[in-house]
Amino acid sequence: MGMEAPQQDIQKEMAAEAALDFVSAGDVIGIGTGSTTNFFIDSLVKIKSKIDAAVASSEVSAERLRAVGIRVIDLNHAGELPLYVDSADEATSNGYLIKGGGGALTREKIVASACGKFVCIIDTSKLCGILGSFPLPIEVIPMAQGLVSRRLVQMGGTPVVRERFQTDNGNIVIDVRNLDLTDPLRVEQELNCVAGVVENGIFGRQSADVLLVGGDNDVRQLNL
Ligand code: A5P
Repeated sequence: MGMEAPQQDIQKEMAAEAALDFVSAGDVIGIGTGSTTNFFIDSLVKIKSKIDAAVASSEVSAERLRAVGIRVIDLNHAGELPLYVDSADEATSNGYLIKGGGGALTREKIVASACGKFVCIIDTSKLCGILGSFPLPIEVIPMAQGLVSRRLVQMGGTPVVRERFQTDNGNIVIDVRNLDLTDPLRVEQELNCVAGVVENGIFGRQSADVLLVGGDNDVRQLNL
């Protein structure tokens, strides 16, 4: 996605650091994917003896966690978790999100669903009034690429297949622009009813419970 302004990284890091306050001793923590979450993993190292383990939403996060000495366990061995920490590509102030810029949306939604509290860490550039400036990622079974693309066009969208990309689940991602996302809950459900769609990046039902927004001087906490 090109070079990022260092200030944006500072905001991401501040939000990530603030998320440590939500970690309790003995927790197994759900961990997201992406550059902001990487800052959280870096922060978590400082208190790694306090936590029990992590459940990762992607292979890349699992590798990063193991590399810093944090035990990674399978979701099927973890059961219900207290906390999920992840970022988003866009967030409204009531906690609705677009995720999946990194393509990990399906596992992210699964792990978020298994967690009691979703703390979403973002920099200020991610906050928006209505979702949809960021193209919505949709994970699709490869053989349904054409079918799903046509259905997306019928819904008013402009789909683009993400090139040279395969999800951790062996599927493709279609990024779609121009869908009307003023009612994210309805569109989230509608998209998942299209045959061949595995999951879409609208986090409506799995919205954030807490938004930590890293700003220039402080972190704003929105409890939702
Ligand atoms: C990964 O699939 C995404 O959902 C990321 O969580 C999201 O794209 C945010 O990524 P950055 O923290 O890199 O902006």
